[in-house]
Amino acid sequence: MNKLLVLLLLAMGASHMLQAAEGKKVFETYCWGCHHQTAVAFGPPFTEIAAKRNADEIRGMITDPDSVSKVFGYKRNAMPPFKLTKEEMEAVTAYILSYKPENKEKK
Ligand code: HEC
Repeated sequence: MNKLLVLLLLAMGASHMLQAAEGKKVFETYCWGCHHQTAVAFGPPFTEIAAKRNADEIRGMITDPDSVSKVFGYKRNAMPPFKLTKEEMEAVTAYILSYKPENKEKK
């Protein structure tokens, strides 16, 4: 393997780790209290969300919970909408999806 490739791989790994750390930070800032990673809180746990939703659905719910919760079949919406930056949105979505059951070993 040449040096450039090694550097590239390292950089990719680092950005992945940064995104995971950023996702956790967004979660702790905005979502914790109503959502926990694996336990049911006021809202469903990330393990449950990751098992049944894709990235688009998660992003939709964060920006417009009022309409998207109805699409998901909730009778009432108790989640406030969030205005996140594109980076925060990507990071927190990836963070939630990292709780997808079959991804467990890869974390
Ligand atoms: C004030 C409490 C509260 C906060 C804060 C909150 N949520 Fe929620 N969330 C809920 C509740 C309650 C539900 C269940 C559906 C509903 O009430 O609309 C929910 C549902 C969801 C769902 C859809 C669940 C499903 O069925 O797939 C996603 C995705 C979600 N929340 C993500 C987030 C993210 C990401 C954040 C932080 C940016 C966040 N929530 C912050 C209360 C909250």
